[in-house]
Amino acid sequence: NETDKGTYPFYMLKEIDEQPNVMRRLAQVYLSETGEPVISDKLLNSMKQADRIYIVGAGTSYHAGLVGKRLFESLTQTPTEVHVSSEFAYEEPILSKKPFFIFLSQSGETADSREVLVNVNAGGYESLTITNVQNSTLSREATYTLLLHAGPEIAVASTKAYTAQIALEAILAKALGEADNQIVAQRFDVRHQLGLVATGIQALVDEKNKIEELAKASFLNTPNAFYIGRGVDQNVSLEAALKLKEISYVQAEGFASGELKHGTIALIEKGTPVIGIITQEKTAGLTRSNLQETMARGAHILTIVSESLAKPGDDIVLPDVDELMTPLLSVVPTQLIAYYTSLNKGLDVDKPRNLAKSVTVE
Ligand code: G6P
Repeated sequence: NETDKGTYPFYMLKEIDEQPNVMRRLAQVYLSETGEPVISDKLLNSMKQADRIYIVGAGTSYHAGLVGKRLFESLTQTPTEVHVSSEFAYEEPILSKKPFFIFLSQSGETADSREVLVNVNAGGYESLTITNVQNSTLSREATYTLLLHAGPEIAVASTKAYTAQIALEAILAKALGEADNQIVAQRFDVRHQLGLVATGIQALVDEKNKIEELAKASFLNTPNAFYIGRGVDQNVSLEAALKLKEISYVQAEGFASGELKHGTIALIEKGTPVIGIITQEKTAGLTRSNLQETMARGAHILTIVSESLAKPGDDIVLPDVDELMTPLLSVVPTQLIAYYTSLNKGLDVDKPRNLAKSVTVE
C-alpha cells in the first residue's frame, strides 16, 4: 500500500528513500526504449511558439522552478523566468509577446498558484501544470498536464516531489530542445543521466547513518545555519535551508556564496554551521574560498561536493552526473540532515508546527 509507512518511523524518510524509484519511474513513463522523450506534439508545438517561459510555484515547487530555469535555458535557449506565485498574482511582470506558463505544484491545489493561473487563462495564454495529483485544480484548469508519478507525498516537508519536478523538467527541456534542433539538447542523454541519478541517490541514502552522525554533531544544538553555493548550487541551498527551517526549526539561510561577504557574514559566530554545496567546476574554487572566509570568522564549515571536485576532508561526496543534474543529488544529504535534526530533537517530523501540506488560502 502506497500510503502505508511500513516500518518507517516517519513518512519523510520513506519518501526520501523512494527517490531512486521515482527517477526510474519517470524514465519509464516519459522516455522511449531508445531514451527519447515521449511528450505530446501538441504540448511541444505550443512551447516551441513561446519566446519566453514563465515558471510559477510556491515553496519547494518554486525552488524546483529555479533549477528548471537553468535546464530550459541550457537545453532550449528559451529565456525563462521563475516567479513566486503569491507575488506574480499581484505584481505581474511585463509579459513577452509569446509567453508560455509552467505551473509547478505537488498538490495542484495551492491557492496562490491558482490565482496566477486564473489570470493566465483570462489572458488567453496556454499553460502546463506539472503536478503529482491527477485531476487537481491546477491540472484541470491548465491547457496541459504532466504528472510526476511520485506516489502520494504525505510528509508536510516535500522531498520526492522536488526531485521529481526537476527530473521531469529535464525531460521536457530535452524534448523541447530537440524539437528545436538544439545541439546541446541532442547531446544531453537524459536517460543515462537519470540512471546515474537513481544509482547516486541510492548510494547517498545507503549512507544515512553517516549523515545522521553529521547532523547530530553539527545541527542539533545550533540556533542557525547557512547553506551556500553559486549558480545551481545556490538554488539548492535555498531548498536545503527551507527543509531545515520547516522541520527542525533551525533558522537557516540559503545564500549565494559570493554575496555572503556583502553583509550577511556579520552573522557568523564561533561554531555557526556553514555548509558549502559544490557541484559546478567553474565556481568550485570560489565557493571554497568563500567557505574559508567564514571559517576565519569562526564558522564550522561542512561540504557537499561532487566526486570529481572533491578534496581530502570533504564531508559528503556526491557521485558525478552532468552538471545540470547535480541538484537531484546534492539536495538528498540536505533532506537527510533536516530529517535527522528534527528526529533527534524529538519533533514531529511529518507534521511540523504552523504548516500545512497544501495551502488553499491566499
Ligand atoms: C505548502 C507546503 C510546502 C509546499 C508549498 C507548495 O506551503 O507546506 O511544502 O512546497 O505549499 O505546494 P505545492 O503543492 O503547490 O507544490
